[in-house]
Amino acid sequence: MISLAVCSAKGGVGKTSVVLGLASAALHRGASTLVVDLDPQADATSGLDVTAQRAHDVASVMQAPKRRVAEEAVAPSGWVDDHPGLLDVLSGSDASAGLDTPSADEEALKSLRRALKKLDDHALALLDTPPSLNGLTRSAWRAADAVLVVSDASRFSVAAVDRTVRELRALRQGPRVVGIQVNRFNQRSGEQRFRYEELQGLFGDLVLEPLPDRASVPQSQGAGVPLHSLRTRTARSLAAQFDAVLDRVLPPA
Ligand SMILES: Nc1ncnc2c1ncn2[C@@H]1O[C@H](COP(=O)(O)OP(=O)(O)OP(=O)(O)O)[C@@H](O)[C@H]1O
Ligand SMILES: [Mg+2]
Repeated sequence: MISLAVCSAKGGVGKTSVVLGLASAALHRGASTLVVDLDPQADATSGLDVTAQRAHDVASVMQAPKRRVAEEAVAPSGWVDDHPGLLDVLSGSDASAGLDTPSADEEALKSLRRALKKLDDHALALLDTPPSLNGLTRSAWRAADAVLVVSDASRFSVAAVDRTVRELRALRQGPRVVGIQVNRFNQRSGEQRFRYEELQGLFGDLVLEPLPDRASVPQSQGAGVPLHSLRTRTARSLAAQFDAVLDRVLPPA
């Protein structure tokens, strides 16, 4: 299983939307995927249309990283009623907020990694994280092979990306930074173009093609369906961008 953590120090930049777009791309490709919802807001769990009630959730799994607890926390996404196991969710819950401390010790930070080792029957794990660099995001970094940093193209976000990448690079045996994904990009804004070029100056090829601001993103989320199922031109174009990002993380066979 290849695992990708999607993170940012800033809120509302599109982490969950990128996780959902990548889950949609993986489903389109037929790659079995586990989405791990670390955000106490549990938006990914809701966006993936999880309705099944489970005895456990990601917080109880991190507190007791045993196979039985982990398996009992996994629920199927409503996107794939007819294909059990193709897209599953380690469900989020507000209980995980208690684990999002800046002072979590190394043992606690490794519990998610231990739990995911027991859930390795998917090709891909996508880890959605809360907007902070505290215990939950740091747990995701320890569990992940690769990290995608999401950002908007604004001055404060460039500083946040810089801080995030520096922290990642300072980790011993940390995950590979697979890319910096600018989201909700408005090509007509000179300020946004300037900030995008600033990111390219700092991080070169790591800066991926920006995802534009398009109504098909909230539309697919509102309808509770994968982006790849929308037939509009803009949805197809975004879907192709997510396919390309997925190729970087999970090269096609
Ligand atoms: N490319 C896009 N075009 C249009 N709207 C978008 C795009 N990406 C995200 N959005 C919208 O922006 C809002 C915030 O996105 P999202 O919830 O994915 O951000 P987030 O980083 O996960 O937020 P949080 O930090 O609260 O977890 C959502 O309403 C989402 O539908
Ligand atoms: Mg989110």
